[in-house]
Amino acid sequence: MALWGGRFTQAADTRFKQFNDSLRFDYRLAEQDIVGSVAWSRALAKVGVLTAEEQQRLEQALNELKARVVADPEQILQSDAEDIHSWVEGELIAAVGDLGKKLHTGRSRNDQVATDLKLWCKAQVPLLLEKIDALQNQLVTVAREQQGTVLPGYTHLQRAQPVTFSHWCLAYVEMLERDYSRLQDAAARLNTCPLGSGALAGTGFPVDRHELAKSLGFDGPTRNSLDSVSDRDHVLELINCAVNSMMHLSRFAEDLIFYNSGEAGFLELSDAVTSGSSLMPQKKNPDALELIRGKTGRVFGAYAGMMMTLKALPLAYNKDMQEDKEGLFDALDTWYDCLEMAEMVLHDLKVNEDKTREAAQGGYSNATEMADYLVSKGIPFREAHHIVGAIVVHAIGKKLPMEELPLEDFKQFSDVIEDDVYPRLTLESSLASRCALGGVAPEQVEVALTNAEQQLKAR
Ligand code: ARG
Repeated sequence: MALWGGRFTQAADTRFKQFNDSLRFDYRLAEQDIVGSVAWSRALAKVGVLTAEEQQRLEQALNELKARVVADPEQILQSDAEDIHSWVEGELIAAVGDLGKKLHTGRSRNDQVATDLKLWCKAQVPLLLEKIDALQNQLVTVAREQQGTVLPGYTHLQRAQPVTFSHWCLAYVEMLERDYSRLQDAAARLNTCPLGSGALAGTGFPVDRHELAKSLGFDGPTRNSLDSVSDRDHVLELINCAVNSMMHLSRFAEDLIFYNSGEAGFLELSDAVTSGSSLMPQKKNPDALELIRGKTGRVFGAYAGMMMTLKALPLAYNKDMQEDKEGLFDALDTWYDCLEMAEMVLHDLKVNEDKTREAAQGGYSNATEMADYLVSKGIPFREAHHIVGAIVVHAIGKKLPMEELPLEDFKQFSDVIEDDVYPRLTLESSLASRCALGGVAPEQVEVALTNAEQQLKAR
């Protein structure tokens, strides 16, 4: 049964109905729509629109309906109701008869859908926070295990300075920490209840919106009815949280895809998260990581789509806003799945320490250390930089790593260089000297690791 037949003399074209209906995706709001309806029935009873006995009958029927949809949400898809709000009202009327027709008094689908969607968003937040937290914990576990593993650090994808695998893991812990707090911020801002705003001008019944908001678990009611029914900032913000975090996950994925390549050979991914080629028997492809990288695109797309949908929409509700759901659902589902996959990839990851050490040793990654050595002998840094550049060219010419050049070669470039240069050119020395806060020196990584472990435990 449509909610609005009276004004019409002709049936809707079936193609229009298909185009217009949203049940196939907004059925996911069923629980929220029912919970919101129970709260609304109570508000109506308080202002005398329903008797206490009527309200109880409605509440009981709604709760029975909720149990049904929780057990099998997909059953809703059998119906040809226009949207989830029509479906719930239709089922209620089927259960309690004409009494069900009183529920929509003073309410509009506009404040209803805004409320349902906010309730849905509120329910997603803890699930996503938990997933971010789990990934952070896994990164910290790997960081603890791999504390001694040296890794080449890159800029421009050229070997730059040695780092450690732990330091790399902790970099992602930081990014995810910002994703975590961004999501908390967004959640705090969406915690106001639009119910009781009516279609756009406010409800025609003197309901206590403070009580209504509290009963639904919101901090309080929204303050302006026009804004209440047309605000979708929270949808945009939540997708933005996904956008930022997916951007981080895509970099995580890309790093690992590269480390896992035959050319780098730094690690081997578990069979559990890789797949084979139908043609080339030797292949073991990093599909989980590639999909994380690839799905980042659709999440960015959802964000762009939502911005364009909302741009220049006149107040208040417009049907354009029905387009908010699919992008939001997909973005948050995708984010959730990618967080889970990223965590799974980190389980069972085998790092090839010989390879990472060999690569970190090569590529003249100790050149900065050499320049710092010259500085310690009193040479101004800019000059030291120039001298080391020339030494690198010389070493490349002799096909030798810098630490294998004989002292007399070094002497050609600067007579301050002595035998004590050799211990400075080791990987250990490069790492140990990056000892200011946030650097890769083992004692700083230990501090960072302990802090991360404590922070995560205290959460
Ligand atoms: N299915 C609609 C949506 O998702 C519900 C609100 C409909 N309101 C209206 N005035 N037609 O936005």
